[in-house]
Amino acid sequence: MELEPLRDGHGRLIGDLRVSVTDRCNFRCQYCMPAEGLPWLERSGILSFEEIARIVSLLSAMGVHNVRLTGGEPLVRRNFPELARMLAGIDDVHDLSVTTNGFLLERDAEALVAAGVNRFNVSVDSLQRDRFFELTRRDALPQVLRGLEALAAFPEAHPIKINAVSIRDFTEEEVLPFAQFARRTPYQVRFIEFMPLDADHAWTPEQVLSGEEIRAAINLTYPLEPEPREASATAQVYRFADGKGRIGFINPVSEPFCGDCNRIRLTADGRLRTCLFSLRETDLRGPIRDGADDRELEQIVRDAVWQKELKHHVGEPGFVQPARSMSAIGG
Ligand code: 5AD
Ligand code: SF4
Repeated sequence: MELEPLRDGHGRLIGDLRVSVTDRCNFRCQYCMPAEGLPWLERSGILSFEEIARIVSLLSAMGVHNVRLTGGEPLVRRNFPELARMLAGIDDVHDLSVTTNGFLLERDAEALVAAGVNRFNVSVDSLQRDRFFELTRRDALPQVLRGLEALAAFPEAHPIKINAVSIRDFTEEEVLPFAQFARRTPYQVRFIEFMPLDADHAWTPEQVLSGEEIRAAINLTYPLEPEPREASATAQVYRFADGKGRIGFINPVSEPFCGDCNRIRLTADGRLRTCLFSLRETDLRGPIRDGADDRELEQIVRDAVWQKELKHHVGEPGFVQPARSMSAIGG
């Protein structure tokens, strides 16, 4: 089945969907969740695997060929590899990736690769055990590193990307160790600027350590050369001038990349979001459970996507942080 490509009102073609499969998580990262967790969504309100597959199928027929599964922590959802297998089997899904905190990768890497997941992003914010514990509130660095090793054993899963959120007065100490890690392992490290998506609403612009500051610091010790930016990419990627590995910078706060954004998001409870910072959501679960057919669903999606935000307004006067935190939106 092939449908008209999905376009927004600013002429951007939508090609990428992030699906949050659960709002639950086994970590409590300071920049995302409070220590005591959040009130979880009711289980009955969470989309079933069949409902997710139906939406992904429809969107992929409209040209949304890249699908990323996120959470919360996607691996805590029961039978998650089975969902991956269902989605990988949809003809128009060309690329299926997972963003995870890595804690359960030792258990699930093999099943996920076998299911057809071809790319992984693993969040690691510190390479020192005590600082990792401080930030994630879980003493889990050794377990996460074992998960990475388990994943690295599968050539199908490469390149593996490591995401580190960059926070002023925390991440500075991590910069050179991460650069060295990127040089000596097969992993590509990417620094992501801290965004106002924390459940505590404690974000301030001063707490963002910019990608440019980190790049300049690394460049002093290990000279970097830019790689060409791919269309709709979130990261600016650099290679080490001596050829040993790559490092990336995702700078949504200091250098927004909304202009050619091709992404939309689906929350675990079936809301379509057209921007990370959207204040408006479109319910797909209600219509699905009320028996909407594919034509009706397609129209609801097109109307919502047509209104995709031109850009985010982080850091500008009057910016309003969305009520949902990252864990309930899905990175
Ligand atoms: N700012 C930037 N990145 C965040 N993430 C979670 N919360 C934030 C935030 N407030 C990251 C996670 C993960 C990805 C899904 O988003 O570390 O890598
Ligand atoms: Fe969990 Fe990811 Fe949020 Fe950390 S950032 S609490 S790993 S959902």
